[in-house]
Amino acid sequence: MTKRDLITIADLTDQEIEEIFSLADSLGAANTSASEGKSCLGKIMATLFYEPSTRTRLSFESSMQRLGGSVISCPDMNSSSSAKGESIADTARVVSSYADVLVIRHHWDGAVRAMAEHAEVPVINAGDGSHEHPTQTLCDLYTLKREKKKLKGLTVAICGDMKHGRTIHSLVYALARFGVHVIILAAKGLELPQYVMERLDAEFHYSLTPMPVDDLHTAVQSTDAVYLTPTQPHQLALFTQADSVVQNRLQKMVSEPKFDAFYITRQQKERSTQEAKQGNGDYPRIGERFLKERRFKDTVVMHPLPRVDELSRAVDLDRRGIYFKQAAYGVPIRMALLKLLFDAMGSAKPRKVRQRSPCYESPEPIDTQCANSNCVTRTERSSTHPTFEVLFTGPGGGLILRCLYCDHQFKAQFIGHATSNRYCSYDTALEETVRKWLKDGELAIFDSIKQAEELDYEPYKSGPQRSIMNENEIREAIQQMAEQLLENTKDSDRLLLLGIRTKGVFIANRISAQIQNQRGRAVEVGEIDIYETGGDNLHRLSPSEIGTPPLSVKDRTVILVDDVINSGRTVKSALSVIFKSGRPRSVHLAILIDRGHREVPVRPNYVGKHIPSSERERVRVKLREVERDERDKVVIYSLINPIQAINDQHSTPASMLTANR
Ligand code: CP
Repeated sequence: MTKRDLITIADLTDQEIEEIFSLADSLGAANTSASEGKSCLGKIMATLFYEPSTRTRLSFESSMQRLGGSVISCPDMNSSSSAKGESIADTARVVSSYADVLVIRHHWDGAVRAMAEHAEVPVINAGDGSHEHPTQTLCDLYTLKREKKKLKGLTVAICGDMKHGRTIHSLVYALARFGVHVIILAAKGLELPQYVMERLDAEFHYSLTPMPVDDLHTAVQSTDAVYLTPTQPHQLALFTQADSVVQNRLQKMVSEPKFDAFYITRQQKERSTQEAKQGNGDYPRIGERFLKERRFKDTVVMHPLPRVDELSRAVDLDRRGIYFKQAAYGVPIRMALLKLLFDAMGSAKPRKVRQRSPCYESPEPIDTQCANSNCVTRTERSSTHPTFEVLFTGPGGGLILRCLYCDHQFKAQFIGHATSNRYCSYDTALEETVRKWLKDGELAIFDSIKQAEELDYEPYKSGPQRSIMNENEIREAIQQMAEQLLENTKDSDRLLLLGIRTKGVFIANRISAQIQNQRGRAVEVGEIDIYETGGDNLHRLSPSEIGTPPLSVKDRTVILVDDVINSGRTVKSALSVIFKSGRPRSVHLAILIDRGHREVPVRPNYVGKHIPSSERERVRVKLREVERDERDKVVIYSLINPIQAINDQHSTPASMLTANR
């Protein structure tokens, strides 16, 4: 009998979610039939909550008892054998021999998946770290649908802690699946993580669009209905349509009363840094004045609860405050879910499984690790089998890995061939080769050269390189970019040069130095790190005096700077980071080398040199700040398929892949 786990909202099909809703309708009705009421007779649920809970735990326990089953539990996991050092894998295995279903909440991202891998019975995720809380999402969608009689085409504004709010992560995926438009009002520093954005884009074609006109806050303020704190959160929207359609729709939305729901959450202080905990004066709040605003007369207010002070008690007495109903629906929804999971175990009907990209497990004892420090693969590796979906289409055209436990994405640096013990840095031209190695179980992925060399891997030798720009030409190109930039910029005080880490930052610094030479005044320079998973993607580089406020893009003319543009995906990711952190006045691109072939419609405004793209040739910008070479140069070199290189490795060194070290 195959067991059925619920770890993420993606584990349920749209049809199953609808089935749960219909079943919840009948289970929630007073006249639940005797057979439905007894569908868990003789079954035992174990609740393992490593974090506090009122609603999720008690509504699950109530649901099981209402279905005729019984519950075993550990009142406090600190009094379980985990306090003696028992692994989560062992706990899951043991408890699954005492119960028919496990409901687990844990503070590590991905811990519930890890426990499900070791449990013999179905496991339900009751919230894992900042990752997901799928059963809360079922309650949220059900409540919204009951109130508004539909989901498709609704507009929902989500406010608060987008970064750590696991309820929000599951919810935005589900809203996207059901065709709901989403306005994101993230508290400062608590924006929706990049990995969630990437997934919304890749799986549901939802992308983040800044609000086009005076934003929601201004619109609300102008009608004297302030419900947000003075420092406004960032206002962005998730839309599927093409740009002009989106702009028209947003324009309409902010000028017409079209908000079906506000979904607000508390700040997840248990997961926040000390700094963020102290700075919560900026946290969005819904208060009494919201209730008086005509345009929100049909806007319901939702909250997964518990609340702290982000939602006024005055809303409790208003028909639009539906969060206690939302909590109450937890029982019929979780009863329906339990019934669905148990019925699925007895059913021979094959399940439609979500299509994944090919997955990677290392053949080596040392390998790449998930970039998320709260991922269970890092906090308790012995209970996991680190596995990554390999995405060949991520930002920067790099080899992007997505952790199967916590969903975080990061860029793989070095690839190795496990049979010949050779390694090189990844390049998009190697995609077919890497796919083959992956299929054959011969792919190794490393975070560093040191890691590869500790396993006795040797690099592919370098092939010939041609210099196409020398030091003088690079200096002249940067000077010319700086001149053009100044010519086109009316208000250089609002200018911000944002270099994409690493080489983009050095080029941004050089452009800034040129501007200082010409204008006698420095331009602010910042760094943008598109692979930073902790949410700290923007950093100020200059001026850097102690006490300067964090870098802000709001109302600035941002010049995004990088060394080479190939596919344009790096730039696309950088733009999404910028728009997440505030609304700039405008964004322009300055690129030293433009290769003119890209998959996204982004054109650079300032270009040092155009070099036509080629699948077989790579351009590399070498800067004295990062290279051992003393002088700057731009080189071009050809790529040879490394499979051929392996075959030829003892005969023709010149035909080897150029290792990009
Ligand atoms: N909404 C929610 O998960 O509440 P609890 O933390 O009380 O379970």
